[in-house]
This record gives sequence, structure tokens and C-alpha cells, in this order.
Amino acid sequence: MSIKVTAKYPSNIALVKYWGKYGNQLPCNASLSMTLTHAHTEVVLECLPRTQDEAALSYYFDGNLNPAFGDRVMRYVKARPEFSRLLDNFSLRFSSHNSFPHSTGIASSASAFAAIAAALFKAANPALSDDSALKEMSRLARLGSGSACRSFYGPYSQWGQLDEIAGSSNEFAIPVIEIHDNFKSMKDAIIIVESEPKEVSSSKGHSLMEGHPYAEARFKDANKHCLEMVSTLRNGDFSSFISITEREALSLHAMMMTSSDYYMLIRPQTVQIIKNIFHFRKDTRLPLCFTLDAGPNVHLLYPEHIEPQVKEFINEMVIKDSNSVIFDQSGTGGLTLNYVNGAA
Ligand code: DP6
Repeated sequence: MSIKVTAKYPSNIALVKYWGKYGNQLPCNASLSMTLTHAHTEVVLECLPRTQDEAALSYYFDGNLNPAFGDRVMRYVKARPEFSRLLDNFSLRFSSHNSFPHSTGIASSASAFAAIAAALFKAANPALSDDSALKEMSRLARLGSGSACRSFYGPYSQWGQLDEIAGSSNEFAIPVIEIHDNFKSMKDAIIIVESEPKEVSSSKGHSLMEGHPYAEARFKDANKHCLEMVSTLRNGDFSSFISITEREALSLHAMMMTSSDYYMLIRPQTVQIIKNIFHFRKDTRLPLCFTLDAGPNVHLLYPEHIEPQVKEFINEMVIKDSNSVIFDQSGTGGLTLNYVNGAA
């Protein structure tokens, strides 16, 4: 018998950033993200009868075998008894596709590990499909890549234990409940300043928070921002949304610029776009703000109803240097998870 599972999961963009981890992929501070819709990874997992010729695990990206990523996924599977028992009977073949290009400021590890964890979980537990499974899938995704655990819910997801938030945990993410109408339909336009692979990996960045002179203050600040953002999403206050989101983005980069092995990922054009956003806001009083991931590309966040003005701003002020733009929007989390028993 063989099994086939398809899993399609979105990426997410953090408004309050996870930066610094300890133990087995546990976060040093709470984070909160907006789940995306169009930026997703689709994984087809085929569990095939084990034969002599077939590799125990193979990973294909867009039809091409990727042994390096396959090794990472193999280590991930082997380390979890929940998944490794699949290897007793099957060879695992993953075929995956990202809906967005690489190195564009969209976390591919978030959508990829959400989809991989969900596919493996479904293959190992075909009958389970309730809320507790969602929590467990989020936990397992976190062990592959921290930010992946937030891709199971939408439009907003929170990860990291805070006494004030019932049910919050360092182990898995939970949905942010009670979202004001102002924040139910947010847009994210990603301006590509540079699409080179990252100079410094996120893993290295997280590790540089160990012994960082500002670490304790940063973790405290992020936890505070997380609580403030939960209230903001409930009460619909755009000015508070803007100030938390932008301070978080700049704090993340300030940490990189002040770590022992300091580095800088923003570019002159990143700064120019941010300054243009400040001017736009001053001139129009419209709630457009920015965030940054661990890279130079700028995410413009805004409510759907101001899209015409924002598109005009992008055309006039931002893409003069022929940057490409990816348009996305807030979404609901897991997109599809299907199981076929006895697939050919
Ligand atoms: C800046 O989730 O990529 O995007 O757990 O090592 O896989 P690993 O790190 P990763 O880090 C994300 C860092 C960030 C902020 C965030 O998404 O919260």
C-alpha cells in the first residue's frame, strides 16, 4: 500500500519578531505574525513501499532533486518518533513547489516546514483532524523552523508563552482571537530591493542574540509589543499598529547591527523607501506602514480600502528603479491537507 498526502501552507510575516532562541527551537520572546495568502508552499508527500532501489527519503523542488534540503528533512524526520516510524515501512518522496521566488523577503522555511510537518503528520495520523492536531502540527513545524509554527492560523498568529495570554506557549502557536474589522483584510506589498540569497542566515542571527548586550531589553520589549499588538488588533487602532510594527522591524535590524559579529542587511534603497513611507503618511494621514524581514526588502502593510492610493504611491515613489513588487494579503492559515490511501 502507498499513501499520498498533499499539503499547501502559506508563509507569514512577523509584526513582532522572533529573534533569539534556546533549547530545542524555543523562542526567547513572544512573536506575532500576519499570515499570508498567495505566498505558499505546496508539498506532495508520497509514502511508497520500501524497495532496495528507492532512497529512504528524497526531496524534489520543482521536479529537481535537492539532496541538501533532503538531508535536512531526513534529520528532521529521524529526530521525531512521530514521523520516523513511517521510515520502517515506506520510502518518503517529497515534491514541493513555492508560489513565490527565492530570497524575496518571504520566509520560505515558514511555509515549507508548515507544509512538510502537516504532510508527515497526516500520513502518520490519517484519522486525526481536530484542534489538538492543529496544535501538534504547529509544534512539529516549529521544530523544523520556528516561524513555521505560526502558519497554521490566520489572519494573525501568536507564538510564545505570556502569562496574560491564555493558552499561549513556547511550544506552538495559537490564533489571535477577536480581530477588529480594521485589521481583518490587510494587504502586504513586498518591494524587492535585492533578491540575492541572505548574507547571514537566520540561524546565525538567532545565535548572535546569545550574549548580545541588549538581549534582555530586546526580549522584554518584544513581549510587551506582543501584548500591545493583541490589544491593538482587538481595538482597531491603526496608529498603535503602525508604531509597534515599525519599531519591531527597526529593532530586529538594530540587533543585527549591534551583535558581536555585526552585520547590516538593509540597503540605501531600503532606507529611502522607509523615508518615503513616512512622508506619504504625513501628507495623506493614511495608515500605510512597513516591516522588514531579515533582509533588505520592504513589506508595505495597509488596509484594503487604501489600496488605490498605495498602488499610486508605489508606482510614483518606490519602483522608479524598476524594483519588482509582490502583492499579497492576510489569510487564514493552512490552505489544503488531503490524504489518499492506497494511492498509485
Ligand atoms: C526575522 O524561523 O527562519 O523572520 O527557527 O532558525 O528556522 P529558524 O528561524 P526562522 O527565523 C525567523 C526570523 C524572522 C522573524 C520572525 O519570523 O519572527
